[in-house]
Amino acid sequence: MSDELLDAARAAKERAHCPYSNYPVGAAIRAASGQIYAGCNVENAAYPEGTCAEAGAIAAMVLAGDHEIVEVAVVTGGATPGTPCGGCRQRLREFAAPDVLVHAANGTGTSLTLSMADLLPDSFGPEQLP
Ligand code: THU
Repeated sequence: MSDELLDAARAAKERAHCPYSNYPVGAAIRAASGQIYAGCNVENAAYPEGTCAEAGAIAAMVLAGDHEIVEVAVVTGGATPGTPCGGCRQRLREFAAPDVLVHAANGTGTSLTLSMADLLPDSFGPEQLP
């Protein structure tokens, strides 16, 4: 994983608005254009209505006109790096091929790398729709 991608996710985590969970998350996506897009989790008082870091990064990517993800980094706190939640696996899958790597890291340097196929095997996607 490039330092640039990890640094973007780390910086995004610092901007998280998570007063309810106290679990800040930063995500950074590298698109096929080479551009990096970042997002953080944004919670609100109606707890289930918050948005994940990955969703913010994907929205920034699409708004900028990119539609192909080539690499992802997610940074969380905690002893174990947090991997993308189920909903975010599907959100990423819309724009990421099965071999795209997703790096999950925490603040202390522990990280693990999984492919999209690892995260969401036998996934449903645009190809299935008529
Ligand atoms: N969260 C993310 O931002 N991404 C994930 O993939 C997992 C969970 C956020 C949502 C919520 O603000 C906090 O982490 C605790 O669940």
